[in-house]
Amino acid sequence: MSRVIIFLLAVISTATATPIVASRSGVDGRLLGGVAVNLGQVSHMASLRSLTDVHFCGGSIVSNRYVLTSATCVSGRALNQVRVVVGTVTLNTGGAIHVSSNITLHPLYDRITLDNDVALVYTATAMAFTVNVQPIPISSTIFAGGVSVQISGWGTNTQGGGQAPNNLQRLTTTTISNDECRGRFHSLNADRITDRKICTLTRSTEGTCYGDEGGGLVSGGQLIGIASWQVPCATGVPDVFERIAAHRLWITSFI
Ligand SMILES: *[C@@H]1O[C@H](CO)[C@@H](O)[C@H](O)[C@H]1NC(C)=O
Repeated sequence: MSRVIIFLLAVISTATATPIVASRSGVDGRLLGGVAVNLGQVSHMASLRSLTDVHFCGGSIVSNRYVLTSATCVSGRALNQVRVVVGTVTLNTGGAIHVSSNITLHPLYDRITLDNDVALVYTATAMAFTVNVQPIPISSTIFAGGVSVQISGWGTNTQGGGQAPNNLQRLTTTTISNDECRGRFHSLNADRITDRKICTLTRSTEGTCYGDEGGGLVSGGQLIGIASWQVPCATGVPDVFERIAAHRLWITSFI
């Protein structure tokens, strides 16, 4: 919850030209418009939780000790106090639990603009790979618009009082070019779409929401983005992801 509030404050303080909190009519309280995922279908997915087991963000397994997420998700958290749960699609049961022992934010992460919104969580114990727990390859392709992609998450609509879905949801959506993305936002939000971001757009009622941040954007079985921010939620404006290709060297220097 505090994460959500901090995130909202950061967004609101930089995006006054845009009504960042839009109407929530039609929002049903999850990664909106997605379908439930079966165990093993999104085997790179990690749930990042507090030590009291409250899910706050998604992440992607990129090696047996590292989960990739957004910097906004883990900024300000104690290095050894993130619980990384892998190998389950349900929040209330299953999976293997690992606790973080380090968190590395991108050195150029900007907590106001959310530029370079990428971080690595290092687990104290190695994740055992199974059919349900697998690392995802990091793409080096610079994607343009019009590409079919998938995003997964346990995200909810906290402000609207929606329940978090217990079962992981997955949405198939489409990338748009950065030019188009900028054109669909006003002023300050448009300026935040740097070359290091990639946007998706689908119809209103579909898209990412609170708790989906940090989750991986996937094309062809490879990781191409990290959920960074959205205008809450699923209101027919683009969802914004950190672009993996822009950070490939930084990521691979750790994993
Ligand atoms: C731990 O984090 C620091 C900076 O936050 C980084 O310099 C160091 O390489 C990290 N170590 C591991 C094992 O991830």
